[in-house]
Amino acid sequence: MSDALNRYYLQAMGIDLWELRRPHVSSEQGLGALAKEVAACTQCSLHKTRTQTVFCRGNSNAKLMIIGEAPGFFEDQQGLPFVGKAGALLNQMLQSIEMAENDVYIANVLKCRPPNNRDPQLEEIAQCSSYLERQIELIQPSLILALGRFAGQFLLNKPLPLKQLRKTLHHYHNIPFIVSYHPAYLLRNPADKKQAFLDLLTVKKLLVEKQG
Ligand code: URA
Repeated sequence: MSDALNRYYLQAMGIDLWELRRPHVSSEQGLGALAKEVAACTQCSLHKTRTQTVFCRGNSNAKLMIIGEAPGFFEDQQGLPFVGKAGALLNQMLQSIEMAENDVYIANVLKCRPPNNRDPQLEEIAQCSSYLERQIELIQPSLILALGRFAGQFLLNKPLPLKQLRKTLHHYHNIPFIVSYHPAYLLRNPADKKQAFLDLLTVKKLLVEKQG
Protein backbone atom coordinates (compact mmCIF):
# COMPACT_ATOMS: atom_id res chain seq x y z
CA MET A 1 0.00 0.00 0.00
CA SER A 2 1.36 3.45 -0.85
CA ASP A 3 2.23 5.92 1.91
CA ALA A 4 -0.54 8.33 0.89
CA LEU A 5 -3.21 5.64 0.91
CA ASN A 6 -1.92 4.35 4.24
CA ARG A 7 -2.26 7.87 5.73
CA TYR A 8 -5.74 8.20 4.23
CA TYR A 9 -6.96 4.99 5.92
CA LEU A 10 -5.33 5.86 9.25
CA GLN A 11 -6.92 9.32 9.20
CA ALA A 12 -10.30 7.83 8.24
CA MET A 13 -9.96 5.63 11.37
CA GLY A 14 -9.31 8.76 13.48
CA ILE A 15 -5.68 7.84 14.20
CA ASP A 16 -3.33 10.83 14.72
CA LEU A 17 -0.25 10.73 12.53
CA TRP A 18 3.25 11.80 13.54
CA GLU A 19 5.29 13.48 10.81
CA LEU A 20 9.09 13.40 10.58
CA ARG A 21 10.53 16.91 10.38
CA ARG A 22 11.90 17.63 6.91
CA PRO A 23 15.38 19.22 6.67
CA HIS A 24 15.20 22.95 5.87
CA VAL A 25 15.23 23.79 2.17
CA SER A 26 14.34 27.11 0.54
CA SER A 27 10.78 27.21 -0.73
CA GLU A 28 12.00 27.60 -4.35
CA GLN A 29 14.19 24.49 -4.02
CA GLY A 30 11.40 22.66 -2.28
CA LEU A 31 8.85 23.56 -4.95
CA GLY A 32 11.23 22.55 -7.74
CA ALA A 33 11.90 19.18 -6.11
CA LEU A 34 8.21 18.67 -5.45
CA ALA A 35 7.28 19.49 -9.06
CA LYS A 36 9.80 16.86 -10.23
CA GLU A 37 8.37 14.30 -7.82
CA VAL A 38 4.86 15.05 -9.09
CA ALA A 39 5.99 14.75 -12.73
CA ALA A 40 7.25 11.23 -12.02
CA CYS A 41 4.20 10.16 -9.98
CA THR A 42 2.50 6.86 -10.85
CA GLN A 43 0.58 6.42 -7.58
CA CYS A 44 -2.88 6.32 -9.15
CA SER A 45 -4.20 5.24 -12.52
CA LEU A 46 -4.51 8.83 -13.80
CA HIS A 47 -0.84 8.71 -14.77
CA LYS A 48 -1.76 6.26 -17.54
CA THR A 49 -4.06 8.71 -19.33
CA ARG A 50 -2.33 12.05 -18.66
CA THR A 51 -0.22 13.90 -21.24
CA GLN A 52 1.73 15.50 -18.39
CA THR A 53 1.26 16.56 -14.78
CA VAL A 54 0.04 20.08 -13.96
CA PHE A 55 1.79 21.66 -10.97
CA CYS A 56 1.28 25.41 -10.78
CA ARG A 57 1.02 28.80 -12.46
CA GLY A 58 1.74 32.27 -11.04
CA ASN A 59 4.03 33.67 -8.39
CA SER A 60 5.34 31.46 -5.58
CA ASN A 61 5.74 34.58 -3.40
CA ALA A 62 2.12 35.66 -3.85
CA LYS A 63 -0.01 36.32 -0.78
CA LEU A 64 -3.04 34.68 -2.40
CA MET A 65 -3.10 31.00 -3.34
CA ILE A 66 -5.94 29.77 -5.54
CA ILE A 67 -6.84 26.09 -5.53
CA GLY A 68 -8.95 24.47 -8.22
CA GLU A 69 -10.09 20.91 -8.79
CA ALA A 70 -8.10 19.12 -11.50
CA PRO A 71 -6.59 19.80 -14.91
CA GLY A 72 -8.87 19.70 -17.94
CA PHE A 73 -7.99 19.10 -21.61
CA PHE A 74 -5.99 22.31 -22.22
CA GLU A 75 -4.21 22.14 -18.86
CA ASP A 76 -3.16 18.54 -19.61
CA GLN A 77 -1.86 19.67 -23.00
CA GLN A 78 0.03 22.73 -21.71
CA GLY A 79 1.09 21.53 -18.25
CA LEU A 80 -0.36 24.66 -16.59
CA PRO A 81 -3.49 25.09 -14.45
CA PHE A 82 -6.49 27.13 -15.60
CA VAL A 83 -5.46 27.85 -19.19
CA GLY A 84 -8.73 26.79 -20.85
CA LYS A 85 -12.14 28.52 -20.85
CA ALA A 86 -12.48 28.32 -17.06
CA GLY A 87 -9.00 29.84 -16.81
CA ALA A 88 -9.98 32.74 -19.07
CA LEU A 89 -12.91 33.45 -16.75
CA LEU A 90 -10.65 33.14 -13.70
CA ASN A 91 -8.30 35.74 -15.24
CA GLN A 92 -11.27 38.10 -15.77
CA MET A 93 -12.45 37.50 -12.21
CA LEU A 94 -8.99 38.42 -10.92
CA GLN A 95 -8.94 41.54 -13.10
CA SER A 96 -12.27 42.56 -11.55
CA ILE A 97 -10.42 42.96 -8.22
CA GLU A 98 -7.35 44.47 -9.88
CA MET A 99 -5.20 41.36 -9.59
CA ALA A 100 -3.13 39.58 -12.21
CA GLU A 101 -1.21 36.30 -12.61
CA ASN A 102 1.77 37.74 -10.74
CA ASP A 103 -0.41 38.37 -7.66
CA VAL A 104 -1.50 34.77 -7.26
CA TYR A 105 -0.17 31.21 -7.05
CA ILE A 106 -2.53 28.70 -8.67
CA ALA A 107 -2.64 24.94 -8.12
CA ASN A 108 -5.17 22.10 -8.18
CA VAL A 109 -6.22 19.31 -5.83
CA LEU A 110 -5.32 16.73 -8.49
CA LYS A 111 -2.18 17.06 -10.58
CA CYS A 112 -3.41 14.83 -13.42
CA ARG A 113 -6.45 15.15 -15.65
CA PRO A 114 -9.31 12.72 -14.91
CA PRO A 115 -10.43 11.15 -18.21
CA ASN A 116 -13.22 13.15 -19.90
CA ASN A 117 -13.01 15.69 -17.06
CA ARG A 118 -15.00 13.43 -14.73
CA ASP A 119 -15.10 14.27 -11.00
CA PRO A 120 -12.02 13.30 -9.00
CA GLN A 121 -12.45 10.05 -7.07
CA LEU A 122 -11.84 9.87 -3.31
CA GLU A 123 -8.88 7.54 -3.69
CA GLU A 124 -7.27 9.77 -6.34
CA ILE A 125 -7.61 12.74 -3.99
CA ALA A 126 -6.11 10.70 -1.14
CA GLN A 127 -3.16 9.58 -3.29
CA CYS A 128 -2.49 13.13 -4.49
CA SER A 129 -3.17 14.95 -1.20
CA SER A 130 0.39 15.11 0.13
CA TYR A 131 1.47 17.07 -2.97
CA LEU A 132 -0.99 19.92 -2.38
CA GLU A 133 -0.35 19.82 1.37
CA ARG A 134 3.39 20.25 0.77
CA GLN A 135 2.77 22.92 -1.88
CA ILE A 136 0.74 24.97 0.62
CA GLU A 137 3.39 24.43 3.30
CA LEU A 138 6.09 25.74 0.95
CA ILE A 139 4.08 28.70 -0.38
CA GLN A 140 2.76 29.77 3.06
CA PRO A 141 0.09 32.04 1.53
CA SER A 142 -1.65 34.69 3.63
CA LEU A 143 -5.00 33.62 2.21
CA ILE A 144 -6.38 30.76 0.11
CA LEU A 145 -9.30 30.97 -2.30
CA ALA A 146 -10.73 27.50 -2.90
CA LEU A 147 -12.68 27.21 -6.14
CA GLY A 148 -15.47 24.64 -6.02
CA ARG A 149 -16.46 21.97 -3.54
CA PHE A 150 -13.52 19.62 -4.13
CA ALA A 151 -10.97 22.27 -3.15
CA GLY A 152 -13.15 23.45 -0.23
CA GLN A 153 -13.70 19.92 1.06
CA PHE A 154 -9.99 19.14 0.74
CA LEU A 155 -8.99 22.10 2.92
CA LEU A 156 -11.75 21.64 5.46
CA ASN A 157 -11.48 17.84 5.42
CA LYS A 158 -15.28 17.62 5.51
CA PRO A 159 -17.63 16.51 2.71
CA LEU A 160 -19.88 19.59 2.90
CA PRO A 161 -21.82 20.93 -0.10
CA LEU A 162 -20.60 24.21 -1.62
CA LYS A 163 -23.58 26.08 -0.19
CA GLN A 164 -22.34 25.34 3.33
CA LEU A 165 -18.72 26.02 2.46
CA ARG A 166 -19.26 29.53 1.04
CA LYS A 167 -19.57 32.77 3.00
CA THR A 168 -17.48 31.55 5.95
CA LEU A 169 -13.90 32.28 6.82
CA HIS A 170 -12.35 28.85 7.42
CA HIS A 171 -8.80 27.94 8.43
CA TYR A 172 -6.39 25.34 7.09
CA HIS A 173 -3.41 24.92 9.46
CA ASN A 174 -3.95 28.54 10.61
CA ILE A 175 -4.12 29.85 7.03
CA PRO A 176 -7.47 31.58 6.40
CA PHE A 177 -9.44 30.43 3.37
CA ILE A 178 -12.72 31.08 1.70
CA VAL A 179 -14.60 28.94 -0.79
CA SER A 180 -16.30 30.26 -3.92
CA TYR A 181 -17.83 28.96 -7.11
CA HIS A 182 -15.63 27.14 -9.61
CA PRO A 183 -15.29 29.17 -12.85
CA ALA A 184 -16.42 26.12 -14.90
CA TYR A 185 -19.66 26.17 -12.89
CA LEU A 186 -20.00 29.91 -13.48
CA LEU A 187 -19.65 29.36 -17.24
CA ARG A 188 -22.70 27.08 -17.01
CA ASN A 189 -24.52 29.26 -14.44
CA PRO A 190 -23.66 32.90 -15.22
CA ALA A 191 -26.43 34.15 -12.90
CA ASP A 192 -24.18 33.21 -9.96
CA LYS A 193 -21.32 35.45 -11.16
CA LYS A 194 -22.65 38.26 -8.95
CA GLN A 195 -22.28 36.06 -5.87
CA ALA A 196 -18.80 35.04 -7.00
CA PHE A 197 -17.88 38.72 -7.35
CA LEU A 198 -18.98 39.34 -3.76
CA ASP A 199 -16.69 36.48 -2.68
CA LEU A 200 -13.83 38.12 -4.60
CA LEU A 201 -14.48 41.43 -2.85
CA THR A 202 -14.12 39.54 0.44
CA VAL A 203 -10.80 38.14 -0.81
CA LYS A 204 -9.59 41.65 -1.66
CA LYS A 205 -10.71 43.03 1.69
CA LEU A 206 -8.97 40.23 3.62
CA LEU A 207 -5.74 40.76 1.67
CA VAL A 208 -5.80 44.52 2.33
CA GLU A 209 -6.47 43.88 6.04
CA LYS A 210 -3.48 41.48 6.15
CA GLN A 211 -1.21 44.14 4.63
CA GLY A 212 -2.42 46.97 6.84
N1 URA B 1 -10.47 23.41 -13.66
C1 URA B 1 -9.72 23.26 -12.57
O1 URA B 1 -10.21 23.04 -11.48
N2 URA B 1 -8.40 23.39 -12.69
C2 URA B 1 -7.81 23.65 -13.84
O2 URA B 1 -6.58 23.74 -13.87
C3 URA B 1 -8.63 23.80 -14.97
C4 URA B 1 -9.95 23.69 -14.87
